[in-house]
Amino acid sequence: MMSILDVKGLTVDFSTNEAVHHVLKNVDFNIDKGEIVGLIGESGSGKSTLAMTVLDINSQNRQMSGNISFMGERIDNIKKEKMRHLRGKRIGFVPQSSMNALNPLVKIKSQFFETIKAHTNMSMEEMLSLTEKSLEMVGIDLSRTNSRPYEFSGGQRQRIMIALSMILSPELIIADEPTTALDATVQLKIIELLKNVVQQKHTSLLIISHDLHTISRICDRIYIMYAGRIVETGTRDEILDNPVHPYTQKLLASRLPLMCEPVRVTGISGTPPSTLKKYEVCEFMERCDRVLEICRTIRPPECTSSVKVACHLESQLE
Ligand SMILES: Nc1ncnc2c1ncn2[C@@H]1O[C@H](COP(=O)(O)OP(=O)(O)OP(=O)(O)O)[C@@H](O)[C@H]1O
Ligand SMILES: [Mg+2]
Repeated sequence: MMSILDVKGLTVDFSTNEAVHHVLKNVDFNIDKGEIVGLIGESGSGKSTLAMTVLDINSQNRQMSGNISFMGERIDNIKKEKMRHLRGKRIGFVPQSSMNALNPLVKIKSQFFETIKAHTNMSMEEMLSLTEKSLEMVGIDLSRTNSRPYEFSGGQRQRIMIALSMILSPELIIADEPTTALDATVQLKIIELLKNVVQQKHTSLLIISHDLHTISRICDRIYIMYAGRIVETGTRDEILDNPVHPYTQKLLASRLPLMCEPVRVTGISGTPPSTLKKYEVCEFMERCDRVLEICRTIRPPECTSSVKVACHLESQLE
């Protein structure tokens, strides 16, 4: 299977005046052609950092090590110019909170043209037809190409961002929390929409969320991230039906049933780990209720292409 994105041993620290934040730790991550891959973890676990490091955004105070390959070619450390091209044309990005990323006062059409012009030599007619086609795909009426973002609802703006991210038919789309801040029914529509456009365009998709329940329905494979580390990975069914890592199990148990009576959500007790601390053992141990003797002295194996669960419980099962 052709690998679209392949990340190996990615470690990212951010230095500030006060301290060094250890944000990503030895992350192995892979997306194959046509795959929809979910990246799930709680707030602060490093999900956006992973996306932005792949795209070389937010790099001012970043130190990184590891390899990032796109379509078989290393892209960490390539020239800024080449990265800009990748970012606009070959990897579509829907950044977190992106429904507020459009300029509220500039016509949708003009904002789409700007992106197209940056990467192609299309005529006005071609640009207009491409803009209309992509808006149509996300269910925005063609009569609205001359409207401005402030005239749309949040859900519509999110659709427009999705259309914009894929206008140049990228090989990969990275959508960071595309449904957060939308109500439950709109969330479902956006998720289904993403799935449909990805299938129509034969694109791969990385979808990032803190909510396993909302996005898992469209994922082929899922990575669970905790404190900057991948702690478990598997197909959607493996993760949903047979989670092994205690963190994944707790995530599943605390999920909110969709559209039903209000329920009491049992969150995961304890505090998330600090990015300032260097952990010699499993980051989840402080919140885990299945700690083994070995957990206190030896770090569990890392998730790689052959290891699917970063937990000592896994080796006990064998
Ligand atoms: N440039 C930076 N300098 C210092 N710390 C940073 C920087 N960028 C990110 N961080 C820290 O990295 C950690 C992970 O942030 P990130 O945005 O990747 O988390 P996330 O999983 O996307 O969270 P959320 O679900 O809230 O979006 C946070 O503790 C954040 O403060
Ligand atoms: Mg984020």
